[in-house]
Amino acid sequence: MTALEIVTYPDIFLRQTTKPVENIDGTIQDIIKNMSTIMYEAPGVGLAAIQVGCDKSIIVYDIMPGNEKRSLQVLVNPRVIEREGNITSEKEGCLSVPDFRSDVKRAESVLVEGLDRDGNPLRIEAEGYLSIVLQHEIDHLNGVLFIDHVRSLKKDLYTRRVKKQLKKKGRKH
Ligand code: NI
Repeated sequence: MTALEIVTYPDIFLRQTTKPVENIDGTIQDIIKNMSTIMYEAPGVGLAAIQVGCDKSIIVYDIMPGNEKRSLQVLVNPRVIEREGNITSEKEGCLSVPDFRSDVKRAESVLVEGLDRDGNPLRIEAEGYLSIVLQHEIDHLNGVLFIDHVRSLKKDLYTRRVKKQLKKKGRKH
């Protein structure tokens, strides 16, 4: 697994439902390592495996990526178990949707279950910003991008622009 490029919208690869990890082996640890490198280099607060070309259910995040002391969090096979309340995620963005930001309606708090990178069960109660990051990354595992939650002229113009750029490059999707 050497892909270091981020898959971007509207690539249909991002639209699939990812597969659960059954065995957290060396290959999976390598993918996690790659994801973390890409996330900190970008820099971004979170990344899903599907964004680097891997169809497994893995996310990494660090809500303070600029901090000297890094706090990398890894979640394998995460699921949102409960959602509560409403919050506006301001100017949300995504490494797979370059040059576009928008407000998004999200749940204020979530309960997430998954495994850590050693396979131990994790249960995370998150609210506010962390809750938003978890919802965004877990959406990726279901083929959902944050712009899917957005209805605006700005988004339509953005979509038209990236499709035009792709056509120029002669790539087919
Ligand atoms: Ni994203």
